[in-house]
Amino acid sequence: MAARRNLLIVFHSQSGSTQSMADAVVRGARHSDIEDVDVRVRDALGATADDLLWADAFILGTPENFGYMSGAMKYFLDRAYYPCEGKVSGKAYALFVRAGNDGSGAVSSIHRILTGLAVKQVQEPVLIVGEFDESSLAECEALGMIIAAGLEAGIY
Ligand SMILES: Cc1cc2nc3c(=O)[nH]c(=O)nc-3n(C[C@H](O)[C@H](O)[C@H](O)COP(=O)(O)O)c2cc1C
Repeated sequence: MAARRNLLIVFHSQSGSTQSMADAVVRGARHSDIEDVDVRVRDALGATADDLLWADAFILGTPENFGYMSGAMKYFLDRAYYPCEGKVSGKAYALFVRAGNDGSGAVSSIHRILTGLAVKQVQEPVLIVGEFDESSLAECEALGMIIAAGLEAGIY
């Protein structure tokens, strides 16, 4: 029997669209074909360093606020960074971002912090910019499925 692997999904949403993205990512990650991956979902305000230490891979989702990740996501990384430093190197991660008109500041601010943890981005970030388009949620679902399937297959 294959060893079980752990996937953490941490997100924050104020007005609900990043929440819809997170729901789609979780749907993909919990696809019925994927049997050996445990998926843990946390709001960024409640997520802890222990959640990140538990994970074999993780997916972070945030809106872009004021050209940066949301304050809640920053608060999670503030609390997790030092307890995880040197203990999560090489773990795979991916991002999904919701933005009114840009999104690059949210992505780059997370990249900058995660560079210090020596984790590796294994998929391009999924961005939904501008008018919220439900059809883009398929990309989020695919992201969750790809990361979970990759974990199960031992690619990540
Ligand atoms: C306080 C605040 C600041 C924002 N700053 C930006 C920004 O810098 N760049 C951008 O593209 N969108 C910005 N937006 C738009 C949000 O990214 C957008 O409304 C997003 O859908 C919020 O996600 P949510 O529905 O999950 O809360 C901002 C929204 C708020 C409320």
